Amino acid sequence: MSNLDIDFVRTQFPAFAEPSLSGQAFFENAGGSYTCKPVIDRLFRFYTQRKVQPYSAYEASRLGGEEMDEARQRLAAVLGVDTDELSFGPSTTQNTYVLAQAFRQWMQAGDAIIVTNQDHEANSGPWRRLAEEGVEVREWKIDPETGSLNPRDLENLLDERVRLVCFPHCSNVVGEINPVTEITAIAHAAGAFVCVDGVSYAPHGFPNVGELGPDIYLFSAYKTYGPHQGCMVIRRALGNLLPNQAHYFNGDILYKRFTPAGPDHAQIAASAGMVDYVDLLCDHHNGPKDSAAGSGAFVHDLMREHEISLLQPVLDAVKNRNAVRLIGPSDAGRRAPTVALALNRKAEVVAAELAGHGIMAGGGDFYAVRPLQAMSVDPDQGVLRLSFTHYTSRQEIDQLLEALDSVL
Ligand SMILES: Cc1ncc(COP(=O)(O)O)c(C=O)c1O
Repeated sequence: MSNLDIDFVRTQFPAFAEPSLSGQAFFENAGGSYTCKPVIDRLFRFYTQRKVQPYSAYEASRLGGEEMDEARQRLAAVLGVDTDELSFGPSTTQNTYVLAQAFRQWMQAGDAIIVTNQDHEANSGPWRRLAEEGVEVREWKIDPETGSLNPRDLENLLDERVRLVCFPHCSNVVGEINPVTEITAIAHAAGAFVCVDGVSYAPHGFPNVGELGPDIYLFSAYKTYGPHQGCMVIRRALGNLLPNQAHYFNGDILYKRFTPAGPDHAQIAASAGMVDYVDLLCDHHNGPKDSAAGSGAFVHDLMREHEISLLQPVLDAVKNRNAVRLIGPSDAGRRAPTVALALNRKAEVVAAELAGHGIMAGGGDFYAVRPLQAMSVDPDQGVLRLSFTHYTSRQEIDQLLEALDSVL
């Protein structure tokens, strides 16, 4: 048993009390999570009370601007970085495109970058396109059997020409948690910056990005119980070095420098609700109150412990099944609860069969075409992906296992 009070957790998500979803167990969380109540409440309040141009003197405007600032300030504190090192863009994919544009201008022909074939396309394609500018793109390859990235292989790819190393904290199909601190240290020792895609990791507990050490860390709030925003940490030294991508008069403001799109005021403000939720969980479980990062770490560990206890039975149930290939590690402690299965038929069809058993799951390539191909999985056939989070209950896991027995 984990220490997480799952009944309390579920009261914080209106979806669990929604009659039209009753009896449906949600296993496509890696695609996007349910939204927590504090975020929904803040969104509603913004749209009903504060939906005016923010940052002016009149009351509704002042409150709207203050709430947007509050969101950045409190979320940055949980992530262990300065407030202006966190910015919001429309999505992670949009954020990497803008960042790649900045690198395109900053890098010289003959410079090199390293990308992996484990990443979702969002942290891969935009960087690979730098080849059009004469940048050498080197690929850090996964093991074709296990899907793992080996840091020793990275060492062999690095030299003084490499400016940037991009990799995922956790792939959205392999699920294995990569040792970010170790990899970052290797890249930094060779003089390269580091960009980590944390989209598949952050839903399982916000990391302390300051302690992990990368120069860029990206995740998507619509998968971390929040609104549809891309969150981007850019550490100051790199942010100041790269050319401004925003209006010229905004270039001195770090959190505006790489977000040329007009901000979605309501969603940024509502992002403070993600931290309300962390604080609620921390208080309810008698966690530490002295720092936001401390509360974040406590809640992260609570979530992980619960997820690991539910994940191991799922892995045990699928790992030795005929005609099923479990992608990634079979040890729950090494991975996120994002479980992709390659089958002997089209995954979409199996997902549709699961729907008949009240299981909401998906089948396809999940924009992880390169990793699937590298592991000899036909992207057209795709993988069945079963992904859950800390709010998933043991009963839902039992419902899933029973349904899998029927369809696999
Ligand atoms: C690992 C990973 N990275 C990046 C993305 C792209 O995020 P966004 O939808 O915010 O562009 C996704 C989306 O599914 C993802 O799973």
